[in-house]
Amino acid sequence: MGKKPVVIGVAGGTGSGKTSVTKAIYEHFQGHSILMLEQDYYYKDQSRLPFEERLKTNYDHPLAFDNDLLIDHLHKLLNYEPIEKPVYDYALHTRSDKVIHVEPKDVIILEGILVLEDERLRNLMDIKLFVDTDADIRIIRRILRDIKERGRTIDSVIEQYVSVVRPMHNQFVEPTKRYADIIIPEGGQNHVAIDLMVTKIQTILEQNAIL
Ligand code: ADP
Ligand code: C5P
Repeated sequence: MGKKPVVIGVAGGTGSGKTSVTKAIYEHFQGHSILMLEQDYYYKDQSRLPFEERLKTNYDHPLAFDNDLLIDHLHKLLNYEPIEKPVYDYALHTRSDKVIHVEPKDVIILEGILVLEDERLRNLMDIKLFVDTDADIRIIRRILRDIKERGRTIDSVIEQYVSVVRPMHNQFVEPTKRYADIIIPEGGQNHVAIDLMVTKIQTILEQNAIL
């Protein structure tokens, strides 16, 4: 069999620990050929919309994402071609005019609330993970993170959570759990799950004639 990168999808609700799981796997492979792709960076370009309009966007609906571009980039990386990855600004609610040049790697981790929702994305994945964390823990984490890192107020985070994030989670994110090969409770602190993942990725790399 020819050389082919391994694609791991990491889904789960907001604040579930997707980024922590992704980073934990990434750190195990440091020094190896691995890259992370964040579905959030592929929110549709809203730079032409006024800020007030961008505030009203539903960022938890599948249609908010430019999955066509994401899939195009994944195909390129699977062919060992480089991509120009968009950069997302959560404070301005849009893509920045900058891009990041990303060289292809042997392991690709794709992380985001809805990466398991699109069948085209699922079909490109070798391993599908769903990070499963209780909603009360997720909202507490999100409040702290969005205030500290995403330029939000506590009132705005709570209002958005109740009116949009929670219903969209129940409608679109939670049902994708059924597509997961592995459901990980406790996110990045689940060392057993992380170690299992690392072993599995190594096996696939061997099968794909990479190691
Ligand atoms: P996601 O990518 O699913 O939104 P993150 O991994 O970014 O979730 O975690 C959201 C926030 O919660 C971050 O600020 C992170 O530091 C924190 N966090 C994640 N996992 C834990 C944990 N097990 N214990 C405490 N805080 C955590
Ligand atoms: O990292 P996390 O999985 O929490 O990121 C997804 C969340 O980011 C979504 O629940 C969405 O509500 C939020 N988001 C936002 N503002 C944006 C883009 C995304 O609050 N401009």
